[in-house]
Amino acid sequence: MTFVVTDNCKGCRFTDCVAVCPVDCFHGDGDMLYIDPGECIDCGACVPECPVEAIYDESQIPDDKKSWTQVNAEKAPGLPVINQKGDALPGAEERKTALGF
Ligand code: SF4
Ligand code: F3S
Repeated sequence: MTFVVTDNCKGCRFTDCVAVCPVDCFHGDGDMLYIDPGECIDCGACVPECPVEAIYDESQIPDDKKSWTQVNAEKAPGLPVINQKGDALPGAEERKTALGF
């Protein structure tokens, strides 16, 4: 099993999640972060940290977001590890509002 970052992260990238991950399994590009399923230990610590509720337990992802499991698995291993909280992307607060948070 693993945890999965989904589309709400795209354009936000708040990075609160990385500060609590005990195994540094978040990787990122310029749009969002992805969890490496080979590294995630399923602790669940990151889920409540995300201000836009982008992170799901793999077994609880809504049907319309299920494709993100494969996206995370494919992208994360080839991208740099992100383990320090940084600035959110420009426009993140507006996107957060638009998402209803
Ligand atoms: Fe890291 Fe735990 Fe979140 Fe997996 S569930 S990404 S190990 S904080
Ligand atoms: Fe993305 Fe939420 Fe982390 S917006 S970077 S999953 S805190």
